[in-house]
Amino acid sequence: MTLLAVAVGGRGAVDPDEPVLAADDEALLRGRAAFETTRVYGGKPFKLDEHLARLAGSAERIGLPPVDINQCAHLAFTALEAAREPAAVLRLYWTAGREGSGHPTALALVSTIPMHLEDLRARGVKLASLPLGLQADLRAFAPWLLGGVKSTSYAVNMAAEAEARRRGADDAVFLASGDVVLEGPVTNVWWRLGRVLYTPALELGILAGVTRAALIAAAAELGYEVREGAFPLSHLASSEEAFTSSSVREVMPVVELDSERLGTGLPGSAAWELQAALRAAAAA
Ligand SMILES: Cc1ncc(COP(=O)(O)O)c(C=O)c1O
Repeated sequence: MTLLAVAVGGRGAVDPDEPVLAADDEALLRGRAAFETTRVYGGKPFKLDEHLARLAGSAERIGLPPVDINQCAHLAFTALEAAREPAAVLRLYWTAGREGSGHPTALALVSTIPMHLEDLRARGVKLASLPLGLQADLRAFAPWLLGGVKSTSYAVNMAAEAEARRRGADDAVFLASGDVVLEGPVTNVWWRLGRVLYTPALELGILAGVTRAALIAAAAELGYEVREGAFPLSHLASSEEAFTSSSVREVMPVVELDSERLGTGLPGSAAWELQAALRAAAAA
């Protein structure tokens, strides 16, 4: 992704090459910041209100000062105006600010859409399952584990992506103990048997994907039943098709799991239908 524009709370649009954080911002020192990533279609960020609400929720869970939603929305539009790119990725950050200051830093970044996504969608991705070693329902009772929170402490998620690549896959899927399927490092996970779509329940402490919610609505309109729950990896492995969902990658078909062919080994029909429905919703 290439950075096209940056807007900073209290300053507005700045040169994207300019440094914007103090060296002692706790976002850097300890990963204490909340963030959001959304896709921009025709110059409009998709489901911006939902992303802003999630940003506020993440900040509260991390213990950051309350998010100024209007300021963040304003920064988003300032950055989008500066970027002049109708199809882009918008990221919003709300950091703890300088150590001990209590004054958060708000940032909006606009970048290009990663180039390889449509090639990946056409061929489908390979997943590697990686255990987290957590009891499936632990994060529901352990708020300090920040389950379902989008914080900038994503080094583990990025390390999981790297491990998946090391195993010859494109992406990872995290497992709780008992091989319960959770989510990917930056995606929610889905699979299909007949007309039923399965996806892990939010009670497992996974991120409440904005795309996931949009797909649940679209699936009902397309005549699919959606079942949310705690499902073992074997259930995913024996499905007819699988896919991941995220704001940037949208609906990404899965064709291989742990080096075994999944379903027909080709991108599936539900992934295709839901991708089309998502694009239609974004264009509406
Ligand atoms: C851990 C995790 N799960 C799921 C998702 C998908 O969420 P969304 O559809 O809101 O992009 C993300 C997005 O980055 C994520 O980081």
